[in-house]
Amino acid sequence: MNSKISAIGVYTPENVIPNTWFENIINTNDEWIQSRTGIKERRVASKYEYTSELAVKAVQNLLKENHGTSLEGIDFIIVATTTADQIMPNTASQVQHKLNITNAGCIDVMAACAGFVYAMILAKGLIAAKTHKKILVIGAETLSKFTDYTDRSSCILFGDGAGVVLIEPSSDAKIFNGITGTDGSHGKDLYLSHGNSIINNEEIIANGKIHQNGKVVFKWAVQNMVFKVKELLERNNLKLGDLDWLILHSANMRIIEAVAAALDYPLSKMLTSIEQYGNTSAASIPIAWDLGIKAGKVKKGNKLLLLGFGGGLTFAGIIIEV
Ligand code: COA
Repeated sequence: MNSKISAIGVYTPENVIPNTWFENIINTNDEWIQSRTGIKERRVASKYEYTSELAVKAVQNLLKENHGTSLEGIDFIIVATTTADQIMPNTASQVQHKLNITNAGCIDVMAACAGFVYAMILAKGLIAAKTHKKILVIGAETLSKFTDYTDRSSCILFGDGAGVVLIEPSSDAKIFNGITGTDGSHGKDLYLSHGNSIINNEEIIANGKIHQNGKVVFKWAVQNMVFKVKELLERNNLKLGDLDWLILHSANMRIIEAVAAALDYPLSKMLTSIEQYGNTSAASIPIAWDLGIKAGKVKKGNKLLLLGFGGGLTFAGIIIEV
């Protein structure tokens, strides 16, 4: 059975944090942040606004903006997140409860900034297997609750937000083949640990905050994502010119620019959410996609390539027709 995306919704918290806010707490400035990352501002959830709350609001916005769409018959909810409300119960089950969706399987997917695309690939598989018919795929994060605001090289990057798509069976294939991959040897280069543990044979004393080696992640992303775009296109017998839009995870504008340059692909045909929302991890791709729709750029019948990458280090890519 083929599948399609029948609706999309997004929610971002009201509280806007401009770059200048950081000038009061760490040694940085707006010019450095914009030139090194492309970020101008980001959104931060309020104290009692947890990831499931952002996810629920994204679903409510999906319903508001897509008349005729209902939650009736939803039989599976996948929440991709690195910032779950807690480890157990999973975030998806809180979404199920808050939205009173009566009969849905619920899982969280932990694949960091690649999580949303991983979740789409799983949803496509469940529909292909004919075990499920109406699936909510959500990418939701409250990274601000896990950000070390004394670490100037990471705290300026992150923001909070959520995006959701509804995936259903389709007579024509609108979600094409995906690709996934991981290099776990880089685990220590980007991690968030709630309990003391060992990663790559090194002891981790947990403080519940995100740690990253920005330079290594940057280099890995630029070197690998260029080839992954090509691999994904080949897998689907498509060429770069067949794409209307390319959405790379919004980690850093310089990563996006470097990948576009290496592919010789116009930056004007890439959608990002980095400038207004920072790095929202699993939410960055649906937010960029929704911004593209609202700007009148993404039109019916367009082909989009989505490619997420992040902590693992891991990646997942998929091509869709909207
Ligand atoms: N303000 C001012 N200076 C800063 C700073 C800040 N917020 N953060 C770091 N610096 C300083 C560093 O201390 C360093 O100073 P030094 O030369 O005196 O040691 C200098 O800027 C250069 O640091 P560097 O780490 O080389 O900067 P960079 O150009 O690599 O940018 C990141 C740093 C984090 C923005 C960049 O590496 C990045 O975005 N990496 C990818 C991270 C990512 O995408 N993570 C998520 C993946 S899903």
